[in-house]
Amino acid sequence: MHLESFLVLLMGVCAVVGEPTVADASPRSSVWPDPFLARLGLIAADAAPGPQQEPTSSSGDVKDQGLEQSQAETIAMLEWLVDTVAEATTAPAGTFAAAPDAVPVLQDLGHAARSVAITPASEGEALMVHLNTVSRLINQLPGGEASFPAVRRAVVAALVLRRLRHGAFRPPQERTVQRLLQQLWTRHRAAAREKGIVEFAHVSKSGGTTFCQLAERNGCATESFAANKNCEVAVFRDQPRYVNGTVHVALRKGRKTQCDRPNKPMSLRREYSCAQRKRMLQEKRYTIYANEYTAVGGRLSPQLAHSCGNMLTVLQMRHPHSRMLSHIHHVWGTYLNHCGADREAVYFAGGHEATDWVRLLPAPLNNYLVRSLLGEKVFNLPAGQITEKHLGLARIFLAFQYDVLLVLEDSDLSNTALSYGLGWGEHELHVNAAAPDSGSDDGLPSNLDLLYDLNRLDVELYRSGVLMAKLDAIVYDAAQEVVPEPKPAAAAAPAAANAMAAANSTATAAGAAVAVANATASTATTTAAAITTSYAKSTTAAPGAVAVAEATHDEEFVAARRAMRGHDFRRRQQRQAHEQLGQGASTAAAAWVGAGRRGRAARWVADALGASRAIHTPGDAGQAMEPAGNGAQCGWVGQTWRKQLL
Ligand SMILES: *[C@@H]1O[C@H](CO)[C@@H](O)[C@H](O)[C@H]1NC(C)=O
Ligand SMILES: *[C@@H]1O[C@H](CO)[C@@H](O)[C@H](O)[C@H]1NC(C)=O
Ligand SMILES: *[C@@H]1O[C@H](CO)[C@@H](O)[C@H](O)[C@H]1NC(C)=O
Repeated sequence: MHLESFLVLLMGVCAVVGEPTVADASPRSSVWPDPFLARLGLIAADAAPGPQQEPTSSSGDVKDQGLEQSQAETIAMLEWLVDTVAEATTAPAGTFAAAPDAVPVLQDLGHAARSVAITPASEGEALMVHLNTVSRLINQLPGGEASFPAVRRAVVAALVLRRLRHGAFRPPQERTVQRLLQQLWTRHRAAAREKGIVEFAHVSKSGGTTFCQLAERNGCATESFAANKNCEVAVFRDQPRYVNGTVHVALRKGRKTQCDRPNKPMSLRREYSCAQRKRMLQEKRYTIYANEYTAVGGRLSPQLAHSCGNMLTVLQMRHPHSRMLSHIHHVWGTYLNHCGADREAVYFAGGHEATDWVRLLPAPLNNYLVRSLLGEKVFNLPAGQITEKHLGLARIFLAFQYDVLLVLEDSDLSNTALSYGLGWGEHELHVNAAAPDSGSDDGLPSNLDLLYDLNRLDVELYRSGVLMAKLDAIVYDAAQEVVPEPKPAAAAAPAAANAMAAANSTATAAGAAVAVANATASTATTTAAAITTSYAKSTTAAPGAVAVAEATHDEEFVAARRAMRGHDFRRRQQRQAHEQLGQGASTAAAAWVGAGRRGRAARWVADALGASRAIHTPGDAGQAMEPAGNGAQCGWVGQTWRKQLL
């Protein structure tokens, strides 16, 4: 027994001692901090002409698509990030749904970051003071599940602005800056561990299917990794919605066709709150799930829309033009599969020009990314009704609500985010993500300009998102000095040891992701209550508004759904069953325990009690002490157990 503790301790020490050696191999310090300007493709004012100064954008494709941002545009965006955090009190209600208490600290942080950005090189002392203030305020932010991706982005933005305008940091400042970046990352990972579950915001046709399969290879657990399930949880009804059903039906003109019902019709969802979602996911011991519809909470107002900040939120973006064309290809193919000859004879009898397509697919062809972040009200607006105001809101939510950003076009950027944002060792994200769009123009309208114009706001949001992803990458780069890059799991994963550790961790880690093998309704309710309480404690209007909106949704939902569904008996039965599901925690818990295909990690946990015996052999104990992020437990979210051991 003593020997076992000693081994655990010894392995822990080895892991810590082992970590810095990786960083030693990197020549980062000699060229630092210009690499972080390079991450953004920026050129410092003091840069001498030479080959080094060529902005090294990590992807040529992005440039080819005419997306190269002007330096001025980038700077404006960096300033916006700092200002937005400094003015946190004016942020829309949904922004801080998960951590309303943080607002005063955020404001101070924003102001301190501003000071960093404008302090000239001659005032070295002052700069150190501001850097230390930023660091101290970061430590004052609420801990636990709360994460502050916008703080990370604003602080890095301030450092970049300072570097651009006032020259390179001097060596002692360099060290302080590097430590600050590492502090930001350490907080990110600590929050990820507390969150315990990944929420993947799957914007359709942006590579989400591949991402879901990647999650399986990284040892995550969910309801189904099948390509047509996409890591979604059926009961949440987060499936994608493309087709305006009214338009589809109208095109039939009363005729009987092979596809009277549209595929992927737009419809409202019975919405579970984030607290409910998390509780249900914990009960199933899932470590990832995907939402392929739109953010929650935005039924009444986009101001209240939010991702589930009680989980590690991931958003994958793709350039809106290729995403949109991919949608057209997909739906064109789907209509052939479902309708056969009726595709051209009935549904596209009037042609397939831009206006025909937009009428049929108002959301996918008109700022789908903006719609995806702003909840149901905006998602279901007719084409042409997305405004600059919506863009502004979506940009704030993107900065504040999404922990990890992936960019389909930029594999280097995405790989860094997978490694250090998620702790995943397996990266083969781009196997089939770049769908064979080119070659065939089947179904495409002759004039694409109209469609491009309809997605102008989405392109702007995408650009902002790519910049934020690059700021994140600067933090991830700094983290390499702290923790070695997560590696793909060994072929024979140490399943038994991990399962034991994961199962055991829950006994002590309150609110941890992985539920105890025999989770009861009462423990689940307690967790949910704790989350609700933390929302309710707020002094600002925001969370109350969110809660009220969620409560109102239920009645509104029933009415809306009834209107939409008519009196179709089978559907009504389903609806009633579904409503009952939400009536009480215990009912929900009981109904929730159904069949579902699970990934590796879930199977390990399911076998936890049997497997735990194996831990007493030194070999297995050793495997349990693999360095952080060996990828075998869904990265950072699956590693709450390790905190207990170290
Ligand atoms: C769907 O089509 C109907 C009928 O044309 C229209 O009234 C409605 O606004 C459309 N919905 C969306 C989201 O475009
Ligand atoms: C679980 O962890 C606790 C302390 O965290 C420890 O005392 C106990 O022995 C562990 N259980 C197993 C089965 O290892
Ligand atoms: C779960 O707990 C309940 C109540 O304590 C018990 O009756 C049941 O046998 C347990 N189930 C398992 C699988 O351990």
